[in-house]
Amino acid sequence: MTALTTRRQFLGSLAAAAVVPLLARAADSTALPVTFPKGFYWGAATAAYQIEGAWNEDGKGESIWDHFTHTPGKIKDGANADVACDHYHRYREDIALMRALHLNSYRFSVSWPRIQPSGSGKPNPKGLDFYSRLVDALLEARIRPLLTLYHWDLAQALEDAGGWPNRDTASRFADYAEIMARALGDRVQHWTLLNEPAAFTSVGYLDGKHAPGRTSVFDFLQASHTANLAQGMGFRAVKAVRPKALVGGAFSMSPCEPATDSEEDRVAAERAHAITNLWFLEPALRGRYPQAFSFNPAVFMKIQQDDMELVRAPFDFIGINLYYRTIVSATSMSERFSDRRFFFLPARMAAGQKGPKTDIGWEIWPRSIYDMVMRITREYNRPVIEITESGCAYNDHPDSAGVVNDQRRVDYHGQHLAELARAMRDGADVRGYHVWSLLDNFEWAEGLSQRFGLVYVDYKTQKRTVKKSGEWYARVAAQNSLPAPL
Ligand code: FCB
Repeated sequence: MTALTTRRQFLGSLAAAAVVPLLARAADSTALPVTFPKGFYWGAATAAYQIEGAWNEDGKGESIWDHFTHTPGKIKDGANADVACDHYHRYREDIALMRALHLNSYRFSVSWPRIQPSGSGKPNPKGLDFYSRLVDALLEARIRPLLTLYHWDLAQALEDAGGWPNRDTASRFADYAEIMARALGDRVQHWTLLNEPAAFTSVGYLDGKHAPGRTSVFDFLQASHTANLAQGMGFRAVKAVRPKALVGGAFSMSPCEPATDSEEDRVAAERAHAITNLWFLEPALRGRYPQAFSFNPAVFMKIQQDDMELVRAPFDFIGINLYYRTIVSATSMSERFSDRRFFFLPARMAAGQKGPKTDIGWEIWPRSIYDMVMRITREYNRPVIEITESGCAYNDHPDSAGVVNDQRRVDYHGQHLAELARAMRDGADVRGYHVWSLLDNFEWAEGLSQRFGLVYVDYKTQKRTVKKSGEWYARVAAQNSLPAPL
């Protein structure tokens, strides 16, 4: 099963539509190079668990992902990230690669259990020291550190105490955020709180395909409320010690298109938009949940008095992770009664089928980035936006000359950047673009089978090879513009 179906299971079954091999072209067909504003951030993104390895070194505690990958049958090919890209030991080499790629921004995450092995209590000096050295080396290379506090590796001890469905986890997160802001806030200005709360609460607590592997709609609902509390409390914790810090979130987003023009499909698409794109944004920015469900979930979410004040987090920027669009149709009454998911959320969400697919099976539809950025721009009064992730899995390997010719990845990023530039011309305030990912790495339930990197990693030798796409991106970053289309 691909990660796409995995991640969408909660959201609806995939429609078996005919595949039309249509290339989704960037709508901009001007013959001029597309120039980006001065100071635009050309970045790449990674996450601690996916690249660091060193899973039990220097006092690091066990995370839910260590636990999950060490449980037989959870990950494709039985893979784990005990070593992954060995970045913990090779970060200097990796920063040299970033320099070679002319990056001026690097989005990485901190492994919470490296800092607090059991998720609470005194920080582990060796954990803090690693990230302090990483940040210093980035600054020395003139690369902006964009730090993510949580990219899915909760301490197993916190999961044992109830995990994200337990509201105490929000307070633990705020304590940890404060520790990090104190330790690194003198050098790190840009902070992202949670990576894709919609993904880790649904795939981890409802689908069970990601750690910690639970499958309960109530766990999901409560986890989502705790994550919203964590955003509000974490935001204030960082600002309390570093008032000048710029704090945002990184949200998995996908434009939700009605399958037809019918009123029913359009209503369903709005519910899909609410749960997919707004469930962690509307509480933070407006202190309320958007209307996604057919019932009021407040009691199942255990919302307490004053919580809707606590969840507020007036973000300084909105991070958007974008990979694909979603096609939404209404469900019939009988489907609502035969399938519990549709009873709660009467909207069938499916992958688009018209564009070409990447090796992980995700449809390529560059216009998605334009549509999503424009919708957020319209609905939230032109906020500062960063693309915190965009990328594609292509499993190209080095040829006999050692060259990784991944032209399809060049096309993917070229088309998405052209659409992003179009959104910026139409008024969106976008400050940066981060390719997922710098390196090929451990892709969660897909193990090591999906390569998203600008840099190829040979997992046996740890040799890094810059792919053709990496060379292309380096030129784009150096020139601050996309070459004119051929
Ligand atoms: C995103 C995750 C990231 C990576 C990419 C492919 O949803 O944030 O860690 O797995 O997908």
